[in-house]
Amino acid sequence: MSLLTAFQAKKTLPDHYRTMSIGEKEARIRAIKQALGSRLLILGHHYQRDEVIQFADITGDSLQLAQEAAATKNAEFILFCGVHFMAETADILSTPSQKVILPDLRAGCSMADMATAAQTERAWNALQQQFGDTIIPLTYVNSTAEIKAFCGLNGGATVTSSNAKKMVEWALKEKQRILFLPDQHLGRNTAYDLGVSLKEMAIWDPIKEELETETPMDKIKVILWKGHCSVHEKFTVEQIKEFRQTSPETKIIVHPECTHEVVQQADYNGSTHFIIETLKKADSGSKWAVGTEMNLVNRLAKEHSDKEIVSLNPTMCPCLTMNRIDLDHLCWSLEQLEAGVLHHPICVKKETATYALLALNRMLERA
Ligand code: 13P
Ligand code: SF4
Repeated sequence: MSLLTAFQAKKTLPDHYRTMSIGEKEARIRAIKQALGSRLLILGHHYQRDEVIQFADITGDSLQLAQEAAATKNAEFILFCGVHFMAETADILSTPSQKVILPDLRAGCSMADMATAAQTERAWNALQQQFGDTIIPLTYVNSTAEIKAFCGLNGGATVTSSNAKKMVEWALKEKQRILFLPDQHLGRNTAYDLGVSLKEMAIWDPIKEELETETPMDKIKVILWKGHCSVHEKFTVEQIKEFRQTSPETKIIVHPECTHEVVQQADYNGSTHFIIETLKKADSGSKWAVGTEMNLVNRLAKEHSDKEIVSLNPTMCPCLTMNRIDLDHLCWSLEQLEAGVLHHPICVKKETATYALLALNRMLERA
C-alpha cells in the first residue's frame, strides 16, 4: 500500500460517519482489522470508551502501553486509542518504519499542556541559579515529547503512576532534589509515601515564575510543578466523608492524580492498572467508590456486577479529550488507512525523540 500524507486527508469527520449505523461502523472496523492482520496494532488506554476499547488488541495503563509500543516490532501501523502524549511515546519507542496514528488530533491532555518547553527552560534556569547542580528532572509520562526530551537531556527520566515510587526513589539517590513535572499531585503523593515531608516540598508556579515555599531553600527535596489533572481534581474529601457517613462499608480507591488530601483519606490509591486489579480481586458483595475517569469506573461496574462499584463523584464527567476518540473517528482512521492514507500520523521530531528516548529508557530499564 502506498501511503499518502495526512495533508491529503480531510481534516474533519465526514458527515456520513454520524449517520451510519453503529452496526455498520463496527462491521467496517472488523473487516479492516481482519484484512490488515498483524500489520495493524490497536492500543487502547483504560479510559477509552467501551465502543472503542472493544477493538483494542491490547488495553493497558500508560506504562503497559509504553512497554507494548516498545516491544511490538512487527506491526506496521500502531493506531493509538488514547491521548496525544501517549501516541508520541509510542512513536518514540517504535521503529522508524512503524507509523503511529491518533484517530483524532484533538485528543490532547490538559495536564500535559500545563508545562511547555519554554516555561520549563525558564524554570530550570531559575532553579539552577537557586540550587546549583543539585536537581534531577522527572516527568510524568503525561507530558509532551519536548518535556520528556528536556528530562532526558538533563539526566532525568519519565515516570508513570505505576512506577512513580521506584523512579522517585532512584532520582533521590542520583541528586539532592527533584523537579517533578507536570502533575504536582502525583509528585506530592509519591514523595510523601517515600517519607519526604510536605515541608520538604516546594511548588514551582510556571505562570508567576516563582517558587512557593515557606521552607529554607536548603531543606527542599522535591520541587513540584504547579500542574494538575482537571478530571482527578474533581474528587474531594467531602465526597469521601459522605460515603463514610452514608455507607461506611464502602471502600474508597483513587488514582494518585487526586489531591494529597483525597489520597490520604482514601483506603487505597494507585494507577488505573492497580485499581482494576484491586477490584478484580475484591470479595463478591463488596462496595467500592472509585476516584478515576468515568469510562473506566462504568466498565468496572459492568464487569463486576457481583460487587457494587460507583464513582466517588456521582456527577463526574469523563475526560473530554480521551473521549474525542469514538467509534466514528476509529472507523474513519481505519478506512483512510485502508485507502492508503496515513490519517493523523504522530511524528516526533528526530532530535526531540532522541532525548525523550533517553528519559523513557531510564524508566523502562527500571519499570
Ligand atoms: P495511568 O494510570 O494509566 O498511568 O493513567 C492515568 C491518566 O490520567 C492517563 O491520562
Ligand atoms: Fe490528561 Fe487527566 Fe485526561 Fe489523563 S485524565 S488524559 S491526565 S486530563
